[in-house]
Amino acid sequence: MGTFRIAVLASGTGTNLQAILDGLHGRDGIEVVCVASNKPEAPALERAADAGVETGVFARDDHGGRVERDAAMADWLAARDVDLIALAGYMELLSGQFVRRFPNRIVNVHPALLPSFPGLDAIGQALEHGVAVTGVTVHFVDEGVDSGPIILQRAVAVPYTRDRSQLEREIHEVEHQLLPEAIRLIAAGGVSVDDRDRRVVRVEHPETAGDG
Ligand code: GRF
Repeated sequence: MGTFRIAVLASGTGTNLQAILDGLHGRDGIEVVCVASNKPEAPALERAADAGVETGVFARDDHGGRVERDAAMADWLAARDVDLIALAGYMELLSGQFVRRFPNRIVNVHPALLPSFPGLDAIGQALEHGVAVTGVTVHFVDEGVDSGPIILQRAVAVPYTRDRSQLEREIHEVEHQLLPEAIRLIAAGGVSVDDRDRRVVRVEHPETAGDG
């Protein structure tokens, strides 16, 4: 079996990138081949460099706009022959052209149980709404905001103290498990999308059977 080549896009601290590097990179035929960011100062880039992974910076201002930047980034990723693009705290909406170029090949981790609380500050939205349970979703990216086919979800109870930093900690811990888990399933051929209803179908596969 050939290598399963992953690219990661990140804008921030990159703890989800780190979970991918620690849990998946160089194991079971999975390689993180490159990391791209829209923010030149993103600490995620340092984590990639420390792991010996190639990095690229695609700031909107250097490319005359979001669509042009996304086109340059898509060319860069395509030239590296990536099988999957993982958004790990990538804080910009990808253009339709970018998304259409990699159909069912982009995944995102979102800190809520979608379709509840899409978009920015999902944890704040959950606290504001007063829900007792929220969680984490890993989904394929389509042209909407956090609206693509759902791959994995895991619930997290909101602490009765409603303490934001505790909830953030617990959600991030679950993110660090769920995103690598979803990528591992995809790499093993255990996930496909039914194009009739845009829902994920889990495929029984010798390597994934018995999982989660
Ligand atoms: C995560 O909570 C992710 O769900 C959200 O942004 C955060 C990124 O954190 N979209 P990190 O950069 O991976 O540490």
